[in-house]
Amino acid sequence: MEVTGRKGSSVQIGRVLITQEEIDSRVRELADQISADYAEKNPVLISLLKGGFIFLADLVRRMTIPHEVDFIAVRSYRDGFARSERIEIVNDLKRNVSDRDIIIIDGIVDTGHSLSFLGQMLEERRVRSLRVCALLDKPSCREIAVPVDYIGFKVPDVFVVGYGLDFMERYRNLAYIAELL
Ligand code: IMP
Ligand code: MG
Repeated sequence: MEVTGRKGSSVQIGRVLITQEEIDSRVRELADQISADYAEKNPVLISLLKGGFIFLADLVRRMTIPHEVDFIAVRSYRDGFARSERIEIVNDLKRNVSDRDIIIIDGIVDTGHSLSFLGQMLEERRVRSLRVCALLDKPSCREIAVPVDYIGFKVPDVFVVGYGLDFMERYRNLAYIAELL
């Protein structure tokens, strides 16, 4: 199905880069690894909305250790394909995270600006430890170095949608990751 962007250009779903089965088995591996690394720590998994919400939901159902979840939404001023760097919190955490072990759960790391901003904010709140788990990493697009501790898949520099990731709020519901043409 075609979606017409604000500028009048139309887009459509291209080739599938990562299938539902591949996502499922990688999410299980990540959940096992995090469960092993954080046994006894009761970590707080912070989902970066909106792109990280489906990933978080699947990941926590595969985890085998006690943990808590919370949500934060940041907005970076980008419109469709356009990129820019202004970032603000539009929905903050609901708990005090000082002295907690935090894992940020992100859908995709692109330029790194959002994560860098969030990392600084959490450090200011005196968290005990901070790691990042991203389903997708686009390393060739990085503008700021941010450590990503758990990576599901590396993807090339193409715009992808599905499994939580959108284009103008569409396609988050796809069970797979596809390229947008
Ligand atoms: P950045 O790392 O600060 O550039 O921000 C990453 C955010 O940009 C992600 O959380 C997504 O919301 C969005 N984004 C970047 N690349 C893509 C993509 O290929 N598809 C969908 N959203 C993307
Ligand atoms: Mg988006």
